[in-house]
Amino acid sequence: MGKKVTVVGAGFYGSTTAQRLAEYDVFDTVVITDIVEGKPAGLALDLNQSRAVEGFETKLVGVTTGPNGEGYEAIEGSDVVVVTAGLPRKPGMSRMDLLETNAKIVRQVSENVAKYAPSAVVIVVSNPLDEMTALAQLATQFPRNRVLGQAGMLDTARFTNFVAEALGVPVKSVRTLTLGSHGDTMVPVPSRSTVDGKPLRDVMSAEQIEDLVVKTRNGGAELVALLKTGSAYYAPSAAAARMARAVAEDSGAVMPVCAWVDGEYGISGVYLGVEAEIGAQGVKRVVETDLDADELAALKEAAEAVRAKQADVAAM
Ligand SMILES: NC(=O)c1ccc[n+]([C@@H]2O[C@H](COP(=O)([O-])OP(=O)(O)OC[C@H]3O[C@@H](n4cnc5c(N)ncnc54)[C@H](O)[C@@H]3O)[C@@H](O)[C@H]2O)c1
Repeated sequence: MGKKVTVVGAGFYGSTTAQRLAEYDVFDTVVITDIVEGKPAGLALDLNQSRAVEGFETKLVGVTTGPNGEGYEAIEGSDVVVVTAGLPRKPGMSRMDLLETNAKIVRQVSENVAKYAPSAVVIVVSNPLDEMTALAQLATQFPRNRVLGQAGMLDTARFTNFVAEALGVPVKSVRTLTLGSHGDTMVPVPSRSTVDGKPLRDVMSAEQIEDLVVKTRNGGAELVALLKTGSAYYAPSAAAARMARAVAEDSGAVMPVCAWVDGEYGISGVYLGVEAEIGAQGVKRVVETDLDADELAALKEAAEAVRAKQADVAAM
């Protein structure tokens, strides 16, 4: 049977994600929803009209949803639901400043997803990411492997881009990794990063690496300060769309994602940025990788920071 994916939220992140998913031409249907009257239908119409030029057959459907779940029938049978609903940051805001507002939105969306697409894999992108992923699992009551969040793919892509630019080498020759939270306790992993197969530490000084680590950690804020009216969406949508595709194709690709951790790295009972194998059921398994002692300590610190906040969302 043909695959169906839903993108909830037709803002910058949602619309660009829907476009990427449609242009892959691997789904039968991409549904895009929002609470704004007419916007999802307009975007779907526009994207459908691009099919003849771009040469894809995927059909887009845009639906406005209501406060009591009106319109959610359209998401029935979705294999994957990407949740982008929620406010983005404004200059000077931290992701955590969005917690209460976005918790209400993500809870309402998740309850409807559970009702209308009970076998879907849910990929959360709304911020603060680690907390909203935990909340989506609580509100859907889906098995934890079927709820995951997008952050690590983006943070890793940013780190890779900064390294490639600093060294003047093609991005494809650079491999990097970031784990931990999508926030202050992001954990870039230089020990697992390479350039043309050589350890990053052999081609860059510790100070240079530290500069790029700081740039990566502040990558989102740098964009918010420049854009002024919203946050990044091209690189973020690329990341979420790849994850949704890995689910639809049951590819088993290993990606850095926000996943439920149950004993890996000696950490349990928390949603955290780790590498995981992605397939039709969401997270097939968390992939533990060798870390330096300081990287492992930073990952444990990140786990405790997000654990405290994730406990709060249960009541939101
Ligand atoms: N995880 C990441 O790496 C990452 C990266 C960038 C942005 N984000 C987050 O993604 C979210 C979306 O960002 P954006 O740039 O698209 O913002 P945006 O303001 O452009 O779009 C958000 C959309 O959500 C819609 N919405 C609000 N409540 C809804 C509901 N109950 N149901 C359906 N739709 C609803 C709004 O009407 C709006 O169209 C933000 O929370 C942002 O912080 C995450």
